[in-house]
Amino acid sequence: MTHASDAGLRSVVAGLGSRLPRRVVSNADLAKVLDTSDEWIVQRTGIRQRHVAGEGETTSTLGLGAAQAALADAGLGPADIDLVVVATSSPDYTFPSVATQIQAALGMTHGAAFDLQAVCSGFVFAVATADKFLRSGSHRRALVIGAETFSRLLDWTDRTTCVLFGDGAAALVLEALPAEEANGRGVLTSHLRSDGRHRDKLFVDGGPSTTQTTGHLRMAGRDVFRHAVGMVADVVNDAFAASGTSAADLDWFVPHQANRRIIDASAEKLGIDAAKVVTTVDLHANTSAASIPLALSVARDDGRIKRGDLVMIEAMGGGFTWGSALIRW
Ligand code: UT7
Repeated sequence: MTHASDAGLRSVVAGLGSRLPRRVVSNADLAKVLDTSDEWIVQRTGIRQRHVAGEGETTSTLGLGAAQAALADAGLGPADIDLVVVATSSPDYTFPSVATQIQAALGMTHGAAFDLQAVCSGFVFAVATADKFLRSGSHRRALVIGAETFSRLLDWTDRTTCVLFGDGAAALVLEALPAEEANGRGVLTSHLRSDGRHRDKLFVDGGPSTTQTTGHLRMAGRDVFRHAVGMVADVVNDAFAASGTSAADLDWFVPHQANRRIIDASAEKLGIDAAKVVTTVDLHANTSAASIPLALSVARDDGRIKRGDLVMIEAMGGGFTWGSALIRW
């Protein structure tokens, strides 16, 4: 394989697909078993329903379904892929990775597959990582998957967290193309940040090396909210500066889907027209690393996102981690 120079290759979107669990749980369903209400959840978060994984549905089965849909969309098969990166914080097992399970289920015995964990920022971190692999010339086509079953990390008696999350998966196929063939398309820039001092604001209180249990998600929601808008604006502005673009140039702003109020406040702070904001938190709730590719799938399938559009993705999550990537679709 030839190793093209970094400047010579672009990571271009070749396909997109998603898979949601069959079962849909509405706010009203939750209000039957918890001291909560549809009104509270909608007003504070914008969430109306979430998909929850059932028997036989795991992070890897959902991720596999998304990967197959993305490959079909790209008109490619497993033989065409040589890199599988799965962003997840809710793997089937401590190991092996979800990525190697999906690789095997696809019938791939070649290439490399690994998981990447940056919680809700996972998909942005995975796109940035795959982009660097592809532009180095070491790999040709990547499946970049966000897949989660956060329902299995939740304390279902804690109304302050369990109403906020859902399960799902979506996948993007990225292909390395010479810049002259890419014709301006591809991942234009990405910006990743983290600051581990914020650990206690959003974490899971278990794990193999501490409690030997899976643990449950714990969150100081107000503290997370307070940091989110500023952090998101910083990395989106970094992407604008690095690419010489501005809010006016964007066709679509596809943020991590945690809370409608965070999304709206971020767009407003950045001067992004509300009509360009893709919001799916009402349908899926917060699906962590799956939320951005699920939102991309909805907006691509309903005809909003089209080839050549300028799309900004961004996320912020546990760690804290946060990041942005600008993609010419
Ligand atoms: O990807 C990053 C992941 N996380 C996030 O993005 C979450 C960021 N934070 C948030 O989205 C918001 O902080 C929440 C939606 C989690 C909470 O909204 P809030 O406006 O910050 O409410 P709060 O936590 O200050 O709670 C207000 C009240 C409290 O009652 P009191 O103390 O005022 O009597 C809560 O006990 O709402 C109560 N409450 C609920 N009531 C009904 C908390 N959860 C619920 C609930 N149903 N599910």
